[in-house]
Amino acid sequence: MQASDFNPFSPTVRANPYPYYEVLRETAPVYWNEQLRVHLVSRFEDVLFVTKSPALFSSKRSLVREEQYAAAETVAPVLVGTLRRGSMLTADPPIHTRLRNLVSRAFTPRRVADMEPFIRRLSRELISQLPESGEFDLMKELAEPLPIIVIAEMLGVEPARRLDFKRWSDDTVASTTVLLNGGDPALVEPGIREMRDYLEGVIAARRKEPRDDLISALLENGEKEGVLTAETVVDFCRLLLVAGNETTTNLLGNGMRALLSNPEQLERLTAEPALIPNAVEEMLRYDSPVQAVSRYVLQDVEIAGTRIPAGSNVMTLLGSANRDPRKYTDPERFDVTRNAQGMVSFGHGIHFCLGAPLARLEAKVALEELLEPGRRFSFAPGQRERVEITNHFSIRGP
Ligand code: HEM
Repeated sequence: MQASDFNPFSPTVRANPYPYYEVLRETAPVYWNEQLRVHLVSRFEDVLFVTKSPALFSSKRSLVREEQYAAAETVAPVLVGTLRRGSMLTADPPIHTRLRNLVSRAFTPRRVADMEPFIRRLSRELISQLPESGEFDLMKELAEPLPIIVIAEMLGVEPARRLDFKRWSDDTVASTTVLLNGGDPALVEPGIREMRDYLEGVIAARRKEPRDDLISALLENGEKEGVLTAETVVDFCRLLLVAGNETTTNLLGNGMRALLSNPEQLERLTAEPALIPNAVEEMLRYDSPVQAVSRYVLQDVEIAGTRIPAGSNVMTLLGSANRDPRKYTDPERFDVTRNAQGMVSFGHGIHFCLGAPLARLEAKVALEELLEPGRRFSFAPGQRERVEITNHFSIRGP
């Protein structure tokens, strides 16, 4: 295997990217990938350097190139408009700082902590619908509905429309892969358009009659300070619906997969539920739901002895950094008692995941409820080998 074998769109790589990461880290820690036209950055220290240096590495430009936007614009104008406008995730200071301050005041630790009883009730309800014995689909029954219902509740949008949110969110997540990999943007456009229309309706209603929800809080803070426009409120609601959806689903999916593949770890965790918060950190480190984030290079820079010119893109491989033996001992081992501190699955620096406390809380509560003493779990026969991985260059999960 060599560095050039790493193609993030290939099913073989997606099935298990970790041996490829090892080759990249050890032979070419900064490697030019022609297909994505990015420099891949794979070592822990280098990933940290990129993510903590926003003055050198901008979040503004996505990997999608202007000609790819232009080609998609006639069939998918709403999608292209949305991606071009971007969000907090794709903003640099000072705009990013203003948006982040505003949003952090609406998305407070207290608002998140207050969600715990709701998350517990919901987890119990979803788990109570599982069969007492026999097979079930963990993704469909628990990992998918939980985060989407929680964020819908926080935003104050109707949880009953969760299947629509899920579909819209899937279309949004798929859209960059579609543009980058020559797919048909007309297939995702309807979902993006429906989501925009729906959110515009809710925002108009909250503007008239505010409630105790996140959208009303955003409107109140943002409009008072003139930071948010009607369009940016829609963008932010979309970001929350999407950013916290598939990622948290995949934390539960990847985490349970790791436990089922390591039955002694599952047993340990079931016997000692106090370890669950620590196990969640290890699940994030071991198999990160977000494998990569990219940046645009603003000034010529050198990383691991390789010069990277201004105007190019870099992709930091978070999933690789988390398994760098320079950072973690025996990194390929999944160990629920490990100190996984420093793992970069939520990113690092000014864009550090805003929803990290919520994702951690959801995973902790869901696992506490699922791994009750006396319940035993294993892969359904033949399923261990059949787990299929999301078709996305950065999002990873069953
Ligand atoms: C940012 C991962 C859950 C909202 C990020 C970033 C990562 C990430 C890697 C940084 C992106 C970058 O540096 O370019 C994850 C993972 C999650 C998760 C692995 C679940 C396990 C959530 C949830 C929410 C959320 C539940 C909200 C409901 C956001 C937002 C940002 C962000 C708004 C942008 C922050 C900024 O640009 O300042 N997330 N996320 N995420 N995440 Fe999450």
